[in-house]
Amino acid sequence: VLPFAAIACGTRSGQHNTSAENEPDALAFDPNRYTTAQKTVTTSAGSKSVTYRSYTGISYVSKPVDQQHQTLNVSVPVEIDGKAVDASGAPILLSNSIAGYMSSVAGSGMGGAMPSGAMPSGGMPGGGFADGANRASNPDLALAAGYVVVEPGTRGRDLVNSAGEYYGVAPAAIVDLKAVVRYVRHNAGRIPGNTDWIVSTGVSAGGAMSALLGASTDDPLYDPYLREIGAAQASDAVFASADYCPIADLEHADMAYEWNWGANALSTGGLVDQSVSGELKTAFASYQAGLKLMGENSFGPLTADNYGDYLTRTYLQSSATKYLAALSDSARADYLGQNPWITWSAAKATFAWNDYLAHVGARKKNVPAFDAFDLSAGENNEFGLGTTKARHFTPYSLRHATGNASAELDADLPDKLNLMNPMHFLDRQSPNRTKNWWIRVGTKDSDTSLTIVGNLAARLHNLGDNVNAAMYWDAGHGANEDAEDFITWIGTTTG
Ligand code: DHB
Repeated sequence: VLPFAAIACGTRSGQHNTSAENEPDALAFDPNRYTTAQKTVTTSAGSKSVTYRSYTGISYVSKPVDQQHQTLNVSVPVEIDGKAVDASGAPILLSNSIAGYMSSVAGSGMGGAMPSGAMPSGGMPGGGFADGANRASNPDLALAAGYVVVEPGTRGRDLVNSAGEYYGVAPAAIVDLKAVVRYVRHNAGRIPGNTDWIVSTGVSAGGAMSALLGASTDDPLYDPYLREIGAAQASDAVFASADYCPIADLEHADMAYEWNWGANALSTGGLVDQSVSGELKTAFASYQAGLKLMGENSFGPLTADNYGDYLTRTYLQSSATKYLAALSDSARADYLGQNPWITWSAAKATFAWNDYLAHVGARKKNVPAFDAFDLSAGENNEFGLGTTKARHFTPYSLRHATGNASAELDADLPDKLNLMNPMHFLDRQSPNRTKNWWIRVGTKDSDTSLTIVGNLAARLHNLGDNVNAAMYWDAGHGANEDAEDFITWIGTTTG
């Protein structure tokens, strides 16, 4: 460890706890404690054989409340296709495997499977990923590109201690992710890679947490939580944030959901309660107006009235165009024959928002989608507290459920909601935020409203950030269809 101490204390990543100078550093990464492993990664250019150093089960906080989940794995490539590689200055991919706001285990996203125990029965409505296997592709491709990969475990809403307390509910997941970044930066020079180039990635709940990590850099609101678990004293800034189908902006997601999917039937064929749906949809209009967001490509102010047209023009038509252009002439003709609502002209797809909605078909969730009246949604659990498993976190659902028109949310909730919401920080321009964003969602993903991605990307564009946002045509929840492009984007953005 000693030869690296000077680098680790250098000004680039700095902020060491100098008062502890004479004490052993409990959070020092030991570069010598690895096993050597090998894997074959399939890319479009053929398969690559990667030899890498594998560091596993590393505690990233000095006062862990959960030894099983608050650990991380580091993978460092040393040889690719027989050629030695030096990853000491490489980008660092921080890939979380958070799903459903559940706890996650270090490295569970790497092997190609869903995180273990991610989706118990009765967990998330509709549960599981349409395309879960893609979750693994970013870490493997990053390793094969010569990048360092960090895969943490994190606390989540399913964890209960012997006193019956839910100790992994909000904001534990983001606090743990911040502690991971602080640990990596604290160990600059000991962990190979450039800590100025930490790129965060996650899917769904993990995508929301990745966005939040990028949006909330070093915000003092998290300090008491970070202190409690003994996080390293360093910045939690990340260079870039990749957010796949983020289930974010939870306290506004019920309204947004009804705006988007209110007229779509459930898979049983029935419509949801149209009066509840209608009230939420009406509330969305004032929420959206209050954001004062400008649409991309000089679209003008984004409103509930023009948002369908905005999504169609900005994301959906280009997504369909890319999909159709890649098909053979006969496959394209087949697709267009089955979807006569799409006009294909001059190699471009055009269509109307309402036809697109009908094409998506069944909505995945009932109403309200996130703050269920009977507290059955995963998000109700995410906002549990102590021995209370699940709580309401929107005034609308609280009042409907209790029948008490003047009921107030529990006093801790406004802060907790902010701590979990990237939009809270971005709406305040969070000057320390990451400036590089990769945002993706499938066009058949009705786990949340498309306005969640639309608003996130629009806010970032309005702030002047470098945003690469796109949708995957006809893809469901969890899709990642251009992982190699993402790896290339990391290279050019850091290059
Ligand atoms: C996830 C999916 C959901 O529908 C949701 O509400 C929260 C999280 C997920 O896949 O992580």
